[in-house]
Amino acid sequence: MEAIVTIENLTISFTNLYGKSYAVRNLSLSIPKGKTLGLVGESGCGKSVTAYSILNLVPKPGKIESGTITYNSIDLLHCSENTLRSIRGKNIAMIFQEPMTSLNPVFTIGYQVQEAVELHLQYSKQEAKEYTIELLGKAGIPNAAQRFYAYPHELSGGLRQRAMIAMALAAHPDLLIADEPTTALDVTIQSQILDLLLTLQATEHMSMLLITHDLGIVANTADYIAIMYAGEIVEYAPTKEIFENPLHPYTHGLMNCIPSLHKTAKRLYTIPGNVPIITQPPQGCVFHPRCSLGDDECLQKPVNLAGRKKDHLVRCIKV
Ligand SMILES: Nc1ncnc2c1ncn2[C@@H]1O[C@H](COP(=O)(O)OP(=O)(O)O)[C@@H](O)[C@H]1O
Ligand SMILES: [Mg+2]
Repeated sequence: MEAIVTIENLTISFTNLYGKSYAVRNLSLSIPKGKTLGLVGESGCGKSVTAYSILNLVPKPGKIESGTITYNSIDLLHCSENTLRSIRGKNIAMIFQEPMTSLNPVFTIGYQVQEAVELHLQYSKQEAKEYTIELLGKAGIPNAAQRFYAYPHELSGGLRQRAMIAMALAAHPDLLIADEPTTALDVTIQSQILDLLLTLQATEHMSMLLITHDLGIVANTADYIAIMYAGEIVEYAPTKEIFENPLHPYTHGLMNCIPSLHKTAKRLYTIPGNVPIITQPPQGCVFHPRCSLGDDECLQKPVNLAGRKKDHLVRCIKV
């Protein structure tokens, strides 16, 4: 598989009054070129800080302790600020959960998307405006020429997210990072936005990193899935393989959390316990305290992410 971005041995820490904790530990992950990779895990497991690290934008007091992130043979963690600035938005774009926090309330959406267009592309004012309206239309905003003049508060959450998507697409990025892009939206709108992202990923020939806490969201949208737990990847495989042959006990747990029409259980299964905060690199498997298969052997030494078959990696000695 050809990768557009390769993360190797990434470690990110946060230091507060009580000491240092590790949000991401020794994480390695490849984002396949021209495909969608779903990054899935419970809240707090380190998905967002991993995404921010790709643009070297980990918020303070977060610190990238070590690792490399390679994009087109450039190490994004060790290149110049100028190089990074030229890549952000132009080659790698990002959208977030809550578009209201990324949109400026005092400017129209047309103004803001056009600003992104003018920043990245050498267009005249008139060309930039026409292209902006085209982008808004492509992002599924009806009556784009009129909506150009709408302020963010005049739009629904779904339309605001579409405006953010239009902005992200402005410079034809190679990679779109979508961090929980539908979490703040109603269920029916969620699937429309996912459909849109899927269509755009294909028609724009982009790669996409789709981040979610909900395995159900990526089941029909991602080509590959990476399951993250407490700062590390615990399983990685093509989507079909993950669903047909899940290996890691945590992946099984997440699957049991997906509501299904065919299940007769009255209550949704949830994985007992919480994601631990890691202050010391653990001796053995971090999932051990919540695991149904765990025993003393799992605590003896670090468990590595290892290949079981082609493209299927898992971090567990019991499966
Ligand atoms: N601003 C912050 N200050 C302190 N710790 C943080 C901050 N942001 C994130 N963290 C730590 O990093 C971990 C991962 O956060 P995050 O990447 O936002 O998780 P996710 O996106 O998977 O919900 C959190 O559990 C927390 O311990
Ligand atoms: Mg997050």
